Amino acid sequence: MAQCFNIAIDGPAGAGKSTIAKKVAAELGSVYVDTGAMYRAMALYLHRKGLDPREAENNPKGFEEKVTALCREPEISIEYRDGVQVVLLNGENVNPLLRTQEVSDMASRSSQVGPLRKRLVELQQKLAKTTSVVMDGRDIGTVVLPDADVKVYLTADAKVRARRRYLENLAAKKSGRDLSPEDLDLAAIEKDVRERDDRDMNRKESPLRQAEDAVLVDSSDMTIDQVVEAILNLAAQKKGRPQVITARTAGFCFGVEKAVAAVYEEAAKGGDIVTFGPIIHNEAVVDDLKAKGVGVIEKKEEIPAHAGGTIVIRSHGVPRDLYEELAHSGARIVDTTCTFVKRIHEIVWKASEEGRHIVIIGNHGHAETLGTMGWSSSPVTVIETREEAEQFSEDLSTPITVVAQTTFHSDKFEELVAILQKKGYNTQVNNTICNATHERQLEARKLAKRADVMIVIGGKGSSNTARLYEICKAECEQTCFVQKAEDLHLHLTGTEKLIGITAGASTPKNIIEEVQKDVRRTDF
Ligand code: F3S
Repeated sequence: MAQCFNIAIDGPAGAGKSTIAKKVAAELGSVYVDTGAMYRAMALYLHRKGLDPREAENNPKGFEEKVTALCREPEISIEYRDGVQVVLLNGENVNPLLRTQEVSDMASRSSQVGPLRKRLVELQQKLAKTTSVVMDGRDIGTVVLPDADVKVYLTADAKVRARRRYLENLAAKKSGRDLSPEDLDLAAIEKDVRERDDRDMNRKESPLRQAEDAVLVDSSDMTIDQVVEAILNLAAQKKGRPQVITARTAGFCFGVEKAVAAVYEEAAKGGDIVTFGPIIHNEAVVDDLKAKGVGVIEKKEEIPAHAGGTIVIRSHGVPRDLYEELAHSGARIVDTTCTFVKRIHEIVWKASEEGRHIVIIGNHGHAETLGTMGWSSSPVTVIETREEAEQFSEDLSTPITVVAQTTFHSDKFEELVAILQKKGYNTQVNNTICNATHERQLEARKLAKRADVMIVIGGKGSSNTARLYEICKAECEQTCFVQKAEDLHLHLTGTEKLIGITAGASTPKNIIEEVQKDVRRTDF
């Protein structure tokens, strides 16, 4: 039998323990021990033995005695069958029977009985001896699994937990659930969270406290995925495997997220829909949209054929004359040009109308650069390299306005601007590199510096991904570029401590997740 690897996650209510524990278990192929379901299975057994939950009120002593005697009898366990987690009561799959009113009533009464709770702990411990488990609660690391391989005390600031609950309640209200005014009162929720913490930490039996050997994870400023990753890395460390850290900024930026969501929304409405150019540099997404009936057009000549349909302008934007043509084409236009790109168009339009020469520091032929060029009414020069900056020549009396392609390399932008400024022109510089790009590059560099292996995920034609690759490669010799998980052919030696992952702005989350999974499963 393979050796069991157990993870205990404790912490206050509202820290997201069960959500995190389920995800960690799924990643590791372990059993997530749903302790609530085990209590229900026990309640089902008591119900089948003819016990009546009303007896808990009419004859509490008698009820307690019967529960104490009966709870020793059944075996309760959890396992995966055909990918589904099932609760076994004496070997019988009782999943479909655990949500009835009778079982709920019995579970809420019987779980108050001390010996029953003790029996459940025994059953949970027995399970953890034969199966790798992830268990969450308030005393798992201290009482239930004191020898767990990894112990985590997951917490979050009371204000953050209150806000999370408030947002959940708000969503529930929107979907029609009946809630009390207190459920939607943030201050009342926070008060309740603090009182609950106080009760849990000061109760006599198994008070909530961090086990001495537990690692504190404060999720106040973390996403669910980041917490899962942190716990998986603790498990990896324990197993002598490299940590896998994914950059927080990896994947869709705000502009791409919005554009892709808009196209999926249009696709759901049906009808003739095309995007002007592929919506993002990612074949999987473009193919998926194609399967949903969204076509791609590349040339102006193709516009009239969609006069009765919908044409989507992608986040890169298009030249001014094309905007006008589209606006008068008869088609419904969905403009997803990123607001940061629109700002560049405005700068260029205004400066060119004032007779300034426009310099775009960006990639020749990139869709965004071509679009920006089309917003200038005066001469435009695109500068991509040091040599081009050095060769740039304009009458010294002509003022110059410089803008950057939003995804250009920040350091290179500074370098090229410095070359231009030395020439003595009246230069107005606008660093229009988008913050999302800037932060992504900074984080990638930092991570690559620490990593033994760095993986950059993105589309072949994505210039921001190409830039990320350059940045990472300069810091980490072992940097590889992949479009999807199947492209990854890692050869680990077993000495690696840290594998870093980042991804371009057009990389969907599911591709990043597949790469993460593959990396974690790579053998030495
Ligand atoms: Fe917009 Fe920046 Fe993304 S310009 S499309 S948010 S990389």
